[in-house]
Amino acid sequence: RPAYWRSATMSTILIAMSFVLMLMAASPQASAAVSGAARGILQIPSGNSLAHCITGCGDIDFSYPFGIGPGCFRQGFELTCDHSTKHPKLYLGSSTIQVIDIDSNDIDVFTPIFFNLTTSPGTNTYDMSWEAPGKGITIASYNTLYVAGCDFDVTMFEYGTGEIVGSCMSRCAGKKVLTEGPCNGRGCCLIQLPRNLPGFHAKLVSTNTTATQSDWLHPGIMAVVSPDYHYRDDDGDSTNTTTLFSSWTNASNIYGAALSLTIVDQASCESAQMNHTSYACSNGSSCQNDSSGGYWCYCPSYEEGNPYILDGCMEDYNPKPKGHCPTSCGRITIPFPFGLEEGCFANEGFHLNCTSGNLTDFISEDTQYHVTDISLEDGTLTVSNMVNENNDNNGYILKAPMENRLDFSMKYDIVIKWVVVNLTCQTATQKDTMYACRSSNSYCLNVTDGEIFTGYR
Ligand SMILES: *[C@@H]1O[C@H](CO)[C@@H](O)[C@H](O)[C@H]1NC(C)=O
Ligand SMILES: *[C@@H]1O[C@H](CO)[C@@H](O)[C@H](O)[C@H]1NC(C)=O
Ligand SMILES: *[C@@H]1O[C@H](CO)[C@@H](O)[C@H](O)[C@H]1NC(C)=O
Ligand SMILES: *[C@@H]1O[C@H](CO)[C@@H](O)[C@H](O)[C@H]1NC(C)=O
Ligand SMILES: *[C@@H]1O[C@H](CO)[C@@H](O)[C@H](O)[C@H]1NC(C)=O
Ligand SMILES: *[C@@H]1O[C@H](CO)[C@@H](O)[C@H](O)[C@H]1NC(C)=O
Ligand SMILES: *[C@@H]1O[C@H](CO)[C@@H](O)[C@H](O)[C@H]1NC(C)=O
Ligand SMILES: *[C@@H]1O[C@H](CO)[C@@H](O)[C@H](O)[C@H]1NC(C)=O
Ligand SMILES: *[C@@H]1O[C@H](CO)[C@@H](O)[C@H](O)[C@H]1NC(C)=O
Ligand SMILES: *[C@@H]1O[C@H](CO)[C@@H](O)[C@H](O)[C@H]1NC(C)=O
Ligand SMILES: *[C@@H]1O[C@H](CO)[C@@H](O)[C@H](O)[C@H]1NC(C)=O
Repeated sequence: RPAYWRSATMSTILIAMSFVLMLMAASPQASAAVSGAARGILQIPSGNSLAHCITGCGDIDFSYPFGIGPGCFRQGFELTCDHSTKHPKLYLGSSTIQVIDIDSNDIDVFTPIFFNLTTSPGTNTYDMSWEAPGKGITIASYNTLYVAGCDFDVTMFEYGTGEIVGSCMSRCAGKKVLTEGPCNGRGCCLIQLPRNLPGFHAKLVSTNTTATQSDWLHPGIMAVVSPDYHYRDDDGDSTNTTTLFSSWTNASNIYGAALSLTIVDQASCESAQMNHTSYACSNGSSCQNDSSGGYWCYCPSYEEGNPYILDGCMEDYNPKPKGHCPTSCGRITIPFPFGLEEGCFANEGFHLNCTSGNLTDFISEDTQYHVTDISLEDGTLTVSNMVNENNDNNGYILKAPMENRLDFSMKYDIVIKWVVVNLTCQTATQKDTMYACRSSNSYCLNVTDGEIFTGYR
């Protein structure tokens, strides 16, 4: 990893400077609070109750807990779509924080945070700040503050506490800024955030205003907060300032900063779980304390699920295959819920592939296996010969949830005890349209793997 330039003595230098506040062109105005934060629902909604809700604004998609309009968002997750411009603009609540992307699963939003500083002779101290528009919103720790330009020192402080977050400096030694290559102190420097921040305040001291003004294409100094100006190479994470400099001259190339949202109507999972009317995590989902207070939810067994919606962590099960499904591949008979084509399997977990050589393949978590047997009677899928694995490790490294379904009973064959979904028979029968045991002479079995309950079949 590159050694990033840091300087611990910068604050001492800064105290000696006079503070000059500059209004910066196109800098974010983050002062307005997310008013109406108390609006929104607290109970867990069902998919049906959200059916009428808007799920996008322009080309940005989102899902609950984010939403627009009554009954469509959880407290603290309201969005506003402004249709008054040609391309609709999305905002966080009623704040001026513009949202350019949303990760509804991780409840992260992306917003541009940048400062385009025009330097002038005689002024050497510049001030940049950003403050979250409400409780439970922080700049995620995986962001970096990048500062491009010549001959300056920057120190970043945490909003609220005033603690030093980090500092860095850039020197060009009379040369023009290099608009590509790493961000390592020559025409560019960076500060990695140590933790989620509710906001920041940064002081920039220009040490040679002649230098910052001599480059006509990149006059002044540009600062951007984002996780996205780095790339991976053989030596690990690194930066290439080409995109950073291209965003200096063209605002549409600016990458957003990642804001992390958490549920803050309760301070932790434990206190939230005590009140069933306001606990955000639905049945089947798990709760995680957030390091900066509050909590969030996730689906442990179904990554694409939505843990904030009733049964949102439950993978769908289609009990009725479409007609004319292929019933075999080579010598293997393919009984439903397994299937080879879209509409023929009950859900992705039962999706098999028939190769050109008439071998049946089962793909789980990036690993592909040949199927040697399927038994509805025993509830097993037997696989052998790992075909390929996008994993450098040798041997069987299987991630959850598959590891719970596996029984390493034979040396080379892996017997998978499949289940429909992780529900007991009793609960499953109540989910009428999705209940899998359809045939009149079928019966439901609770499946366990050792001590662990894995679902029904
Ligand atoms: C930086 O990225 C640009 C555009 O992707 C590329 O052309 C250039 O070669 C890269 N420079 C380095 C030093 O990797
Ligand atoms: C300041 O910048 C100018 C223009 O790049 C350069 O000629 C000069 O040497 C710099 N002065 C110092 C002290 O670095
Ligand atoms: C700015 O960048 C965008 C996207 O890369 C591009 O479509 C647009 O033409 C650029 N604008 C200018 C003025 O260069
Ligand atoms: C930054 O300011 C310069 C000079 O005023 C301008 O040409 C450039 O377009 C601005 N960049 C952004 C991203 O606003
Ligand atoms: C969550 O935070 C609460 C209060 O800070 C603490 O008591 C609890 O042990 C934490 N739970 C987990 C799972 O870390
Ligand atoms: C549970 O939360 C609801 C909604 O915030 C609140 O009205 C109620 O008083 C809470 N109940 C308890 C026991 O704290
Ligand atoms: C969640 O599961 C528990 C135990 O299985 C059950 O008592 C409760 O009614 C369920 N809640 C909902 C909303 O389905
Ligand atoms: C599985 O089959 C589908 C459809 O035939 C194909 O698109 C897909 O690439 C196959 N997957 C693998 C890993 O071979
Ligand atoms: C695969 O099976 C089909 C249908 O049974 C048959 O027509 C085809 O020749 C087989 N292909 C190979 C490579 O065995
Ligand atoms: C499955 O397990 C549930 C909960 O342990 C139990 O109530 C139910 O009777 C079991 N059903 C069958 C068919 O074994
Ligand atoms: C199934 O759900 C139960 C209770 O929700 C949980 O204890 C168990 O670990 C889950 N099993 C799997 C395989 O995810």
